[in-house]
Amino acid sequence: MIKIYYSETAEDAGRAAAEVIASLVKEKPDCVLGLATGSSPIGMYTALAEKCDRGEISFKAVKSANLDEYVGLTKDHDQSYAYFMRANLFDKVDIDLNNTNIPNGMAEDPKAECERYDKVIESLGGIDLQVLGIGNNGHIGFNEPDDHFPYGTSLVNLTDSTIDANARFFTSRDEVPTQALSMGIGQIMSAKKVLLLAMGKGKADILERSLFGEVTPRVPASILRFANDVVVFADKDALSVIMEKHPGAVIK
Ligand code: F6R
Repeated sequence: MIKIYYSETAEDAGRAAAEVIASLVKEKPDCVLGLATGSSPIGMYTALAEKCDRGEISFKAVKSANLDEYVGLTKDHDQSYAYFMRANLFDKVDIDLNNTNIPNGMAEDPKAECERYDKVIESLGGIDLQVLGIGNNGHIGFNEPDDHFPYGTSLVNLTDSTIDANARFFTSRDEVPTQALSMGIGQIMSAKKVLLLAMGKGKADILERSLFGEVTPRVPASILRFANDVVVFADKDALSVIMEKHPGAVIK
């Protein structure tokens, strides 16, 4: 079942999403969060850090597993996802860094690293809530359009469209890594709850195709139609096509 919540702005959507995580953390202080990077969750992380600052929630016992990491960037590279997580959440809340997990993009043997990460996720006992953004091509994590849905963590070749989209964070397109390690679709689908964030006009078409079109590995996010509990928080630009084609589907 998918619930699509309307927000006027990305900040409002981030605050609304933070409420869902805050409720879970209060109800289950040692919950397992699957976390995403990118522009979409930044507002949510800011709102969570503020809540933690005000003493409303604590991440002391929370465990986390991130979706993905670029191959070839050290955890101190300012575009690595390990760096992103520290800058946007981990350094701003009381989480124990030992309880946080991110694939190691510098692993000498990426295949062995994927196997290690699968075991990490298994040892966490399942993900209570998985945060996702959506790529312009419908990717979730870095599971790019393909002819199958991968179950577990894998080494992924990033598509040109993803490299183009992510070039905005690097000085030049040549610096964008061409590969990443990503949690698999099966692992994402095993989460008890999925929170999908989409912001901006650029996501409007793919969000509609994913949530209302055919379920196909060519649009990886479309698999979420088969998940038990998905909540979507999106701003009005990202929802523009859905509101036009399926006006009754959006909760205001
Ligand atoms: C990030 C991730 C990606 C992004 C997606 C959207 O960890 O797994 O799937 O969520 O590329 O990125 P933004 O939010 O920057 O548009």
